Amino acid sequence: MNYENLKIPNHVGIILDGNGRWAKSRGLNRSAGHKAGYENLKELCVHILDVGVKYLSVYAFSTENFKRSEEEVGYLMNLVAKKFKSDAKFFMKNDVKVVFSGVRENLRKDVLESMDYVTNLTKDNKKGVFNVCINYGGHLELTDMTKKISKLVKEDKIKIEDINEELISKSLYQDLPPIDFLIRTSGEQRVSNFMLWQLSYAEFYFPKVHFPDFNKEEFNKALIEYTKRDRRFGGINYETKSN
Ligand code: FPP
Repeated sequence: MNYENLKIPNHVGIILDGNGRWAKSRGLNRSAGHKAGYENLKELCVHILDVGVKYLSVYAFSTENFKRSEEEVGYLMNLVAKKFKSDAKFFMKNDVKVVFSGVRENLRKDVLESMDYVTNLTKDNKKGVFNVCINYGGHLELTDMTKKISKLVKEDKIKIEDINEELISKSLYQDLPPIDFLIRTSGEQRVSNFMLWQLSYAEFYFPKVHFPDFNKEEFNKALIEYTKRDRRFGGINYETKSN
């Protein structure tokens, strides 16, 4: 693959969907789908950052996902508790900085320990940022940002006039640039409360494959599609406008 002829987005978002359907189609249980999803995610993350993407954000567990069965929630939490600890070396070796977005409340102690472990270990890594959304909701992120800024105003640390887009971005769970390219696997065409502030001008792409099968080759196809998109940010690109 020759990446020189491709446009490389700075920030890619992925809504990881279809682990359950992937497992069902193979006669496996949902946990097997999540395990395959995680193993794919780990390799894919390195590939995506290797081609020059600087930020990768993924939706691994929403605040609403707690409504799933105790068994499924337990399995996903075990994955986070085990894998981010045991794969911390893998992220170090690949120079990936791992961060998390979401709320810590309701997360188990071993889950938080694993998240903190990989965050601290990889904090100086330079290849790119892997932002994993766990116990995350987009409305909740905006609500928490509003509370954070209101507190600054209340404590006279800033004036209302100081509130601008930059301060809002900095007051979210992580200070990240806008998402350029959003991928949701499995054919569903919804945003499902994922990174609403950061998605304002993103290009959307909805491949049919379930997440465990969304591998490097599938991502490369997505890049070809992204390269064809004409991004205008509300303006007009007079070079490409045909009418
Ligand atoms: C949605 O597919 C997927 C999830 C709710 C979990 C995503 C998790 C992973 C990819 C693996 C774990 C990752 C980490 C970081 C621990 P679904 O299971 O709802 O699929 P379905 O719609 O086909 O049932």
